[in-house]
Amino acid sequence: KKDQIILGIETSCDETAAAVIKNGTEILSNVISSQIESHKRFGGVVPEIASRMHVEQITLVIEEALLQADVTYKDIDAVAVTEGPGLVGALLIGVNAAKAVAFAHGIPLVGVHHIAGHIYANRLIQEMKFPALSLVVSGGHTELILLKEHGSFKVIGETRDDAAGEAYDKVARTLNFPYPGGPHIDRLAHEGKPSINLPRAWLNGSYDFSFSGLKSSVINTLHNAEQRGETIEPADLAASFQASVIEVLVTKTLKAAEDFNVKQVMLAGGVAANKGLRAALTEAFTAVPDIELVIPPLSLCTDNAAMIGAAGSILFEKGKRSDLALNGNPGLDI
Ligand code: KG4
Ligand code: ZN
Repeated sequence: KKDQIILGIETSCDETAAAVIKNGTEILSNVISSQIESHKRFGGVVPEIASRMHVEQITLVIEEALLQADVTYKDIDAVAVTEGPGLVGALLIGVNAAKAVAFAHGIPLVGVHHIAGHIYANRLIQEMKFPALSLVVSGGHTELILLKEHGSFKVIGETRDDAAGEAYDKVARTLNFPYPGGPHIDRLAHEGKPSINLPRAWLNGSYDFSFSGLKSSVINTLHNAEQRGETIEPADLAASFQASVIEVLVTKTLKAAEDFNVKQVMLAGGVAANKGLRAALTEAFTAVPDIELVIPPLSLCTDNAAMIGAAGSILFEKGKRSDLALNGNPGLDI
């Protein structure tokens, strides 16, 4: 049987990315042009700047991905592109580039949900076993998603307010770290002790999450100490914040994994790069050896196009085709 070759394209936020994936599991190339330096001085992603930079980079990034994979358009079976959710102006650049490639070379087009991509990053390192559960923790999402089979996604829990990454970034900003703050808090947390009492949002045993109360509590703790002329060790605050986030994420993931009798748990999204979370999940699942825990390497946790190619590969195999009316959809449901 002939190999299946997918070109993946991702431009939903601040990374312009293209990748070539063989048979849904093998990375032939994975090119990322990051805009982080350009957004840093504004303290977050500026949508207009993101769109403009995607326009400048997208053609170069796609050409580079093909070159590194040593393939031409003739070898490509389908173009998979993130159609949403994300910043609409940013999504449109990837979607239009993908449509141009599909139209010019007569290649099928497959729209991919960004979170499906994050989950399928796991298939680049381990075959999926169903039913599977994915804990998706990124800048825009915190979700527990159940997969009964390939390409079927059921959200069983989600954040009611801030996403985990968003909480990390806001706490980091309060502690004067540049965007994106998650990695800074992660590093600082390992230098401190979780000695400050912060809330944990259990939400009556629901699989849902909430992080805005915790975020406010961190900010209040700092302000109150300032007013009283006391100092708080930032490392201890970071460690306490991280301990609260991780305890809730790990406890709810473990409970859902057992309640739904899953065979595999997959970590996904930018916050999956968090060292504390990776260690805590690993420890929790060591105690339940019937459930396999999969954690992608850091480079596949944050936004990339290899994951979009991997998800696109399965969707293409299942017969999904998008037409040239494909649009960027910032509020797309999985
Ligand atoms: O998935 P992603 O690259 O983009 C979105 O789709 O949102 O996730 C980005 C988020 C940011 O909020 C960033 O601060 C967070 O992931 N992040 C981390 C770490 N590395 C990235 N959060 C905590 N600890 C980390 N090590
Ligand atoms: Zn993402």
